[in-house]
Amino acid sequence: MALLDRAIVRLLPAVPKPVVQRLSSRYIAGPSLDDAIRVVRKLNAKGKLATIDVLGEDVTAPDEARAIAGQYHDALARIDEEQLDANVSVKLTGLGLELDYKLCRENLESVVGDAAARGNFVRIDMEDSSTTDRTLQLYRELHADGAGNLGVVLQAYLHRTLSDLPGLDNVRLCKGIYVEPPAIAFREFDAVRENYLRSLQALVAQGSYVGIATHDEHLIGESLRIVQAAGLERDQYEFQMLLGVRPERADELVADGHRVRIYVPYGSHWYEYSVRRLQENPKMAGYIASDLFGRMRHAVS
Ligand code: FDA
Repeated sequence: MALLDRAIVRLLPAVPKPVVQRLSSRYIAGPSLDDAIRVVRKLNAKGKLATIDVLGEDVTAPDEARAIAGQYHDALARIDEEQLDANVSVKLTGLGLELDYKLCRENLESVVGDAAARGNFVRIDMEDSSTTDRTLQLYRELHADGAGNLGVVLQAYLHRTLSDLPGLDNVRLCKGIYVEPPAIAFREFDAVRENYLRSLQALVAQGSYVGIATHDEHLIGESLRIVQAAGLERDQYEFQMLLGVRPERADELVADGHRVRIYVPYGSHWYEYSVRRLQENPKMAGYIASDLFGRMRHAVS
């Protein structure tokens, strides 16, 4: 993104919430589980898999964290009842990581146990770098206790990623979305891409199942080359994309016979997720500028 565009996108918090909600509606299934289930049904009908995310992060009270875990139980039950091809993605700060590690572990264990009983799978999203160690620790603890239906996420922008991946058998690999200091993260576009492909090579070499989570055409092409060169079967990796981003590219991948999973967020806590998505949309600077300009014109007329 150009410098001016980036500066405009930084003004996003000044944009009124109803405008943010309108602009971000394509990225979110809706406020209720019914909305998410409806979207998943449509995706499945088009040959796409899904992962459902209950929106909510940085909760401030144990009951809120338990309520989010409860929503995951509801989602798992509906997926099971309707025989949908979908799993769930959880954010540990939504399950109480910043309140109490033990509470978060209990919530995660209950969701993972429920998923296991239903033959389903849980992916732990990766949040900002202050949570990386605890996220990997929790993943490793549950895994050591026998949770085979659990996966985690690694972020290619972090310098540490190549050293984190040994021993991880099911990984979603993404670029990373949080703003991290240059001491620990690559900032240049090409350096992130390079680390992404190096990490993917290493994951494939160690036999991990990888969710190739990107909409970047260069990375999609190079990732295809890597999995094909390794002789992987179509059920040994998958592509992953976000709801509302490049759906036609996902269709092409499905048509070419690849597994593609779409990340489907739903819920009432839509603001933080929406802002992150809008900041990544290359056209967003134009939308924000015209919204701000329109409001200024309105104010002086
Ligand atoms: P890039 O940002 O370069 O986008 C490539 C192209 O895709 C753009 O040029 C544009 O055409 C299109 N595009 C991308 N974003 C768009 C948008 N919002 N609106 C419109 N077009 C857009 N991050 C993290 O830190 N922790 C996590 O757990 C996850 N989980 C996750 C799951 C899944 C399924 C995906 C796909 C991504 C994540 N991410 C994530 C987000 C990830 O780290 C990254 O921020 C985004 O995927 C954008 O990076 P790309 O690789 O798509 O490249």
